[in-house]
Amino acid sequence: MSTPLATPAFAAYDARPRAPVVSRRGSRARARATSRTVDDSDSDCDAEDDRAPDGARRRVLAALAASGAALGNVSKVDVASATPLRASMRATDRAGTATPASSARAPRPPGYAAMRDANVYHGAATMDRENRGLDGLLPSRAVNDEVELARARAALGQCESAFASYKQLVSLQTTDKRTFYQLLRADTADVLPYVYTPTVGEACLRFGTLVQRPHGLWVSLNDAGSVRRLVRNWPERDVKIAVITDGERILGLGDQGANGMGISAGKSMVYAACGVPPSALLPIQLDVGTNNETLLDDPLYIGLKQKRERSEAYDALLDELIVEIRDYFGPNTIIHFEDFAPRNAFRLLQKYYSAPDVVTYNDDIQGTAAVTVSGLLASVRALKGTNNDLTRQRVLFFGAGQANIGAAELFVKALVNRGVDEAEAKRRVWLFDSKGLVVRSRASELSDAKLPFAQDAPKETDLASAIEHIKPTALVGASAVPGAFTQKVVRAMSRSNDQPIIFALSNPTSKAECSAEDAYRWSDGRAIFASGTRSAPVEYSPTKTFAPGFANNAFIFPPIAIATILTGAKQVTPDMFLTAAEALADSVGDDLFRVGAVYPPVERVASSAVAVAAAVASSVDDSSTDTLDRWRELVRAYIIDNDLFDSASRL
Ligand code: NAI
Repeated sequence: MSTPLATPAFAAYDARPRAPVVSRRGSRARARATSRTVDDSDSDCDAEDDRAPDGARRRVLAALAASGAALGNVSKVDVASATPLRASMRATDRAGTATPASSARAPRPPGYAAMRDANVYHGAATMDRENRGLDGLLPSRAVNDEVELARARAALGQCESAFASYKQLVSLQTTDKRTFYQLLRADTADVLPYVYTPTVGEACLRFGTLVQRPHGLWVSLNDAGSVRRLVRNWPERDVKIAVITDGERILGLGDQGANGMGISAGKSMVYAACGVPPSALLPIQLDVGTNNETLLDDPLYIGLKQKRERSEAYDALLDELIVEIRDYFGPNTIIHFEDFAPRNAFRLLQKYYSAPDVVTYNDDIQGTAAVTVSGLLASVRALKGTNNDLTRQRVLFFGAGQANIGAAELFVKALVNRGVDEAEAKRRVWLFDSKGLVVRSRASELSDAKLPFAQDAPKETDLASAIEHIKPTALVGASAVPGAFTQKVVRAMSRSNDQPIIFALSNPTSKAECSAEDAYRWSDGRAIFASGTRSAPVEYSPTKTFAPGFANNAFIFPPIAIATILTGAKQVTPDMFLTAAEALADSVGDDLFRVGAVYPPVERVASSAVAVAAAVASSVDDSSTDTLDRWRELVRAYIIDNDLFDSASRL
């Protein structure tokens, strides 16, 4: 982040006079007018139906036939049987309730809307039934929150797969927020693996088949010029964190286009699990097309069916979105960039870091960096002998993308803070990308982000040979290359280290460089291991069971955000991330080291957030020397005050 980019495009959008907010009615009419210029035959379905039923029916049938052919599960559409289907569709209102067509305009009793409002509906614990017109719409025996929570647990317990659990939880979030967030906070360690990694990866892959999708804001290329209206359609007014993805690098799964919303929503749930109020969170999917041919061919794909936008239109749309977020929700709203591909991730971070009144970070670069450096700091404390000093470490980063370059930069910063000269600190860092070791003779093909780490060494394309040559003390994988840490690689690490530090951070599990079991087996139980998804305990011998740590960004980005909100920091600096890394590492004690963990268990994510947020806030606040305890109290108060879904009995 040393050389901020100039931001002419952003400044240009920012300085523009604002277009008035167009009403939904106006925009729909405009959209219809636009679509007619593209295809005159395409028009509002119901209106057309009345005027030319045959034409409309032909198009419905053609669409059904086309999707049936594409899906391979409808061999033939029967015109006669389709007719009653169409008629019954007309007699069905938008919420799916069958009503006589003639009564469609009759005002509904208020209880109807209340039942469908996730902020009001709370199962059999829904309050204020008479005033809300809910009498008779719910079973008469009212229960308290605990019973609804137990019901939600029971429903989750009946799910037969992780994906079914994801759907169950999203369904709960969209129908009964109170129970959902109570469950998320009470059973964080059980629920997070479904709504966040690893299951969220599967959810993104199957997003088109989901009928209950998590809520968020959808901003597409088609909305350029009208983003203001979209942002103002969001039902909450006190948003503090906007989690934006363009879906181009979803976990290790590549380009998932508009299906990336699963990730923005999942990260928002992690913030909520750590005490940020759900109303302060805004997940956003920027739909700028996809280059994923499978999605482009999929009739159920929910995004724009076009290749990714690579021109200035991409930047213009993002500029517009960020300015509108800032103008509506305020200049302190945090912009959290999530799962952008490296081509955009680094330049966008630099661009907005220096833009006025924009508070931003990229979790894949900076959050991962902090969690990785924290793991290295904790591992070093676990080392026996004289090597237990960060300044003695030499790290080989396998995969030279956002995660590992961010980690390499923060590791260098940590060494410099400990008195190591910057050039010397960089010599302790080795990168290995898809073409081998990052060395000076490859300078012409290296990106700006990799160049500062190019070493003066011969080319090497074999990882095990590179390890023999460099003798790193730590090997950190963030490459999404499954099985890259072979037996030969782990043995090479174990030959030059009594306790080789081996992190296989790629996720989901199918992308991991090696499993915990392999790392322990091939290192004869000597490795200090961490993974990018939760590993089951490994029974290494009758007397030794490992419960390795999980390098989870969830330990970093929520406390960073809480500290930023509470201090009103105008920038989220690398120093704040390093402080977070140190505070997280400090929270790992001997009890965890004994089972081989260098991170706290996920069960502690919320309590850890208090300690880490307090440390970061205190480092930002230089108004007093004795601030840590005070900040701990302030963070706790923030979390409790904002606990809109406390579990007190409501009867
Ligand atoms: P990225 O796409 O920015 O980088 C991937 C890197 O791997 C590129 O430098 C590429 O050249 C390299 N690579 C590809 N094939 C290779 C090969 N055969 N040999 C060596 N290098 C190769 O992706 P990013 O954001 O760095 O993420 C990488 C992985 O790390 C993903 O699976 C991601 O989900 C995971 N990750 C895990 C985190 C965690 O555990 N907390 C946090 C962030 C990312």
